[in-house]
Amino acid sequence: MRVSDYRRKKLELYGTHEFFRPDHAANSALRLLATRDAMQDCAGWLSSGNTVAILDGCLVTKEQRREVFEYFTQQLGYRILFVECICEDPAALERNYQEVIQHNVDFLGMDPSLAAEDLKLKVAHYVHAWEPMDEKNYPRITIDTVSLEMRAHKITGHVETSVLGYLGSVTAKPHTLYFSRHGESEYNVIGKIGGDAVLSARGERYAQALATRINSMKIPDLRVLTSHLRRTIATARGIEAPQEHVAALNELDAGVCEGLSYEEMQEHYPQEFAWRDQDKLRYRYPWGESYVDIMQRVEPVIAELQQSNNILVISHQAVLRCLIGYFMDKKPEELPYMEVPLHTIIRVSSCGFNYRIEFIKLPIECVNTTRNKPVNCSANRTDNDALRTVPAHYDIPDPWRNPGNGPSLVQQH
Ligand code: F6P
Repeated sequence: MRVSDYRRKKLELYGTHEFFRPDHAANSALRLLATRDAMQDCAGWLSSGNTVAILDGCLVTKEQRREVFEYFTQQLGYRILFVECICEDPAALERNYQEVIQHNVDFLGMDPSLAAEDLKLKVAHYVHAWEPMDEKNYPRITIDTVSLEMRAHKITGHVETSVLGYLGSVTAKPHTLYFSRHGESEYNVIGKIGGDAVLSARGERYAQALATRINSMKIPDLRVLTSHLRRTIATARGIEAPQEHVAALNELDAGVCEGLSYEEMQEHYPQEFAWRDQDKLRYRYPWGESYVDIMQRVEPVIAELQQSNNILVISHQAVLRCLIGYFMDKKPEELPYMEVPLHTIIRVSSCGFNYRIEFIKLPIECVNTTRNKPVNCSANRTDNDALRTVPAHYDIPDPWRNPGNGPSLVQQH
């Protein structure tokens, strides 16, 4: 929860740095109320079963930190971990200021040189109010965002040590990442999931078009990551850049349903199919995986992407939902339904503290593989209700290579 978002709810217009003067009683009270609103929402998030909440704000005084500490530990019984980011490098600060005035809504439409001046005065108010974080009883991590030097105090347990590891892989430098699914596979064409199918004729054309497009972009020091599966390796083949095959980028393991179409899943495992629709994020295929499992398995890839620039990841629908969703700050529940279409380059670039996403669709036809959540998710629904949102597909793997009587598109409903 970002305190600045809560401040904007109370006071839509930013105005000037004057709002942040520590000696202005009314404005300080308003900022305190915004912090308290964010604290309450963090508490709500935790009480609804989540393990970590992030309160993102400037707790520069000992009094501000005391209130937050007491609320979460003494009143609510949670552990708290303060993370203090330090940056004293003038060049890095200047870069950060430029990013903020360009992308932060507070400075939207303001003359850039006036905005820069105002931002520096705002920071000066914080510097003036700042009291070093030397409280002995608070668990904390202090990180220098340029040298990445870290100091840890009173860190215990799995979650806090994971946060420490995570912070070690964060970069404050602007960066751009590219993502693409493999070209359309023979399984995609007939609506089957999983497996290790080869590309369809149209998928091969996408691989060529992707290579031509990416090579023409002359992306400096580009690296390509693919999964271990044939369809991603074949998709990357023509790209002139070093390539690594990473098992963590393999598609969601559908266990007993590998190689089935959604229609066959409904026919053989209607109960499983309904359970998946009821909670697609947590549902784990028998002998297979869930989206939550993927989120854990791609953690090392995310750590790598966080500190890299100009990487192209060629992977699969479910895995890319988790990776792109992470950078786009999606809620876990939204991930399994995100649109990650075939034959599209997805560029994700940092802008300030957020990321911007662009879809570059290449003009090669392909099937759609997104199955939206059906209205009826109950176990005793009819086949029609279960299959209502299954996207159209063909009845033979590559109708363009083996035309026979002409390709016939199977549209379920
Ligand atoms: O259909 C292509 C595919 O990559 C399958 O291999 C995979 O099981 C599926 O997408 C994941 O999508 P969803 O979670 O929406 O079924």
